[in-house]
Amino acid sequence: MNRGVEDVQDRVVLITGAGQRLGAATATRMMAEGWHVLVHVRSSVVEAQQLLDEAERQHGESRGSLLVADLTKDDDLDRLIDEVKNHPLVKANGLGGLVHNASFYSQGAFEELNLETYRSLNRLHMEAPFHLTQSFLPDLERAGGSVVAVVDTSWGRAWEGLAHYTSSKAGLRQLMLNLAGELAGRVRVNCLAPGAIMAADWEAEHFAKVLEKVPLGRSGQAEDIASGVHFLLTNGTITGNVLHVDGGWTLNE
Ligand SMILES: NC(=O)c1ccc[n+]([C@@H]2O[C@H](COP(=O)([O-])OP(=O)(O)OC[C@H]3O[C@@H](n4cnc5c(N)ncnc54)[C@H](OP(=O)(O)O)[C@@H]3O)[C@@H](O)[C@H]2O)c1
Repeated sequence: MNRGVEDVQDRVVLITGAGQRLGAATATRMMAEGWHVLVHVRSSVVEAQQLLDEAERQHGESRGSLLVADLTKDDDLDRLIDEVKNHPLVKANGLGGLVHNASFYSQGAFEELNLETYRSLNRLHMEAPFHLTQSFLPDLERAGGSVVAVVDTSWGRAWEGLAHYTSSKAGLRQLMLNLAGELAGRVRVNCLAPGAIMAADWEAEHFAKVLEKVPLGRSGQAEDIASGVHFLLTNGTITGNVLHVDGGWTLNE
């Protein structure tokens, strides 16, 4: 039976790469909204456990579970899928949301990029979301659920030293838009494109220059991404959308 999006209780969302930074903010927001969050991490086990403990302390009950997997490894992916499908709330109600957030952001001149690095990014940004979405389709349909992929604002332009990252993110965006059409009426699929929100360690200096080009003149907050994901997961009329949360950055690029 399809459940309405307003039935929050017992709704489950899987968020990949949710141990820290933007994924952690999204997990925290969804737990505060009453969802049960399957917090996936690759290595941020301690941070994710702290997040879950803090939510339990605040809300007086457990609001999530921790799942560990390297999404570039087929065996890990298959184990993760089994664990999610066997979760009691997923077995009972299906999967209300699937958020493809995990990512790896690095910079490198094209001549120096290693083919294995590129394959690994394609696995993380495209193949894992493909496999997870396909595997959870019956569970998402059963819950009246939806998918959100966290992409970025890079497509259609050239970016110094980011060929591997931007092209794999563009593939993810196109995969999601295609699925929005193909799965329409069964599962909603959307993307959220953050602008310059939270700098990686290696780009702090460059980040300040980027912010000069943002019409709002500032970076957003992790909570802005979290509220955007919550909006896309809960607005039952939106599919095939790319929501820019970027302070207007795309207007000026
Ligand atoms: N930060 C920004 O301003 C910005 C701008 C544009 C777009 N975005 C997008 O927004 C999302 C969140 O951004 P972020 O900066 O918070 O992301 P991030 O810190 O770069 O990555 C999020 C998580 O992805 C996980 N991850 C990396 N490799 C993995 C693998 N092989 N298998 C499984 N998980 C893996 C890591 O988990 P562990 O820590 O557990 O290893 C990491 O914590 C990303 O999709 C990013 O591309 C961010």
